[in-house]
Amino acid sequence: MSQTVTAARPDAVELLIADHRTVEQLFQQLELASKTSAVENQRDLAQRLVRDLSVHAAAEEQVLYPTLRRSLDEGDRLADEGVAEHAELKQLLADLDSAQPGDDRFFPGFRRVMEIVRAHVAEEEATVLPRLRQALGQDALYELAEALFNAKRLAPTRPHPHAPTRPSANIVVGAATSFTDRTRDVIRDTPMFRSR
Ligand SMILES: [Fe+2]
Repeated sequence: MSQTVTAARPDAVELLIADHRTVEQLFQQLELASKTSAVENQRDLAQRLVRDLSVHAAAEEQVLYPTLRRSLDEGDRLADEGVAEHAELKQLLADLDSAQPGDDRFFPGFRRVMEIVRAHVAEEEATVLPRLRQALGQDALYELAEALFNAKRLAPTRPHPHAPTRPSANIVVGAATSFTDRTRDVIRDTPMFRSR
């Protein structure tokens, strides 16, 4: 957890770790906000978490996991574990996507999301990313960063628990759902369309 991202051009490992730090900051802000009555702030943080986690999960499924399968001895097992964790996470996020801060399920749901994500991050940073760094050269890690960056640009911003997790289908489905999600984001972020 102590690695700092300083490079102007991050490689894939640095990019994923930076994502993890951003999400952890959002968790901490949501924890703090849960102790206040700042409902608008709670809702904004929750929406950012759903968006960031959905994008991160999709990019890992489209780019990171196929690379693990190709490059690491135990890559299939590691990728399968990641897909299973994402499935639980995306189902939870889909349930929470319509929840409001006043709902009974809102904070318990996000606390469960935090548990799953923190375990996923710990495993990825302790085992998966160091092995990936060892297996790929620095050039390949830069190329992988580029692919992750592009996947994130096209990724759906909402959780789609039933979408395929393998890249060939994911990219097509991802592009379609991404367009719909991003249109919904714009509408939802427009003040007159906010639900309350
Ligand atoms: Fe991750």
